[in-house]
Amino acid sequence: MVKIGSSDLDVSRLCLGGNVFGWTADPDTSFAVLDAYLAAGGNFVDTADSYFWRKPGNSGGESETIIGDWMAARGNRDQVVIATKVGSWPERPGLSARNIATAVEDSLRRLRTDRIDLYYAHRDDPDTAQEETADAFDRLVREGKVRAIAASNFTAERLRSALEISARDGLASYVALQPHYNLMERDEYENALAPLLASEGLAGFPYYALAKGFLTGKYRPDTDVDSVRSEGARAYLDDRGRAVLAALDEIAAGHEVPVAAVALAWLADQPTVTAPIASARTPEQLADLLPALELHLTDDEQRLLAHVSS
Ligand SMILES: NC(=O)c1ccc[n+]([C@@H]2O[C@H](COP(=O)([O-])OP(=O)(O)OC[C@H]3O[C@@H](n4cnc5c(N)ncnc54)[C@H](OP(=O)(O)O)[C@@H]3O)[C@@H](O)[C@H]2O)c1
Repeated sequence: MVKIGSSDLDVSRLCLGGNVFGWTADPDTSFAVLDAYLAAGGNFVDTADSYFWRKPGNSGGESETIIGDWMAARGNRDQVVIATKVGSWPERPGLSARNIATAVEDSLRRLRTDRIDLYYAHRDDPDTAQEETADAFDRLVREGKVRAIAASNFTAERLRSALEISARDGLASYVALQPHYNLMERDEYENALAPLLASEGLAGFPYYALAKGFLTGKYRPDTDVDSVRSEGARAYLDDRGRAVLAALDEIAAGHEVPVAAVALAWLADQPTVTAPIASARTPEQLADLLPALELHLTDDEQRLLAHVSS
């Protein structure tokens, strides 16, 4: 277990992504994935109020509802660190004090709990003063509805100013950032965000840790993949993508683990990363990710992956 920044939350080295629950995984399969993740030693589940409103027939909140039903059915709320988000669902848009106060009650109700462990601003809201957002989040922490707060999809400049405002006004401060970062998407995180996280002691929880499935190795030349994500994932299959897959194949064979676990271990070993976030649509998919809970790469393996992905 690793501590999240300056919080008192301890989490596993792999965070389970929850956008599949109620989207590409039905409730029964979602329960099976969650059961298998917890049984393997994972304790950190990521969701959002907006998951997954884009699926035809959904309206949003489906993922939180499934996770809440699962925790109630299993009676395991205290064993799970739950992260959810506010701000990007068209029903509850933005980071105004009013929206945050309403959205948190909805999330607590769907999750069937009295507190959210880590509450994210899902994305920046340039139309709301950062002071207003900071006050609203601080109130939730003081009320005990939220244990710690975090940001997602913020630029370094906006994250820095939010941190400065919280420090200046003595308010609860973001303890983590959830950025888009993986072997295929390195530049913005490594150049702009990681130095800030390092200097401020924030935890990094990269999303799309598998590059939408590309880093599982299932996208190869001349293969057809049946997935809602295939268009986005297949776009990585250029010369660089093929070189990354070749290096992952070699390292995975050496450790006798699946390719996906190596891609996740590379991320988890980055100095400012506390845990990568990846989803699995089935328990079988999850089994390929679980070795990342323990796997560490050698310096040579780290260097090879950094080289072929640069
Ligand atoms: N903060 C944000 O703005 C933001 C944005 C996106 C995601 N997130 C969070 O990050 C999490 C991770 O992102 P993501 O789930 O979108 O993408 P991802 O983790 O990069 O890719 C996961 C997908 O890869 C495929 N996959 C996983 N294991 C596999 C295996 N063993 N074999 C074959 N295919 C496998 C599955 O999709 P298919 O089977 O459908 O191919 C799975 O849903 C999300 O669940 C969510 O919690 C946050």
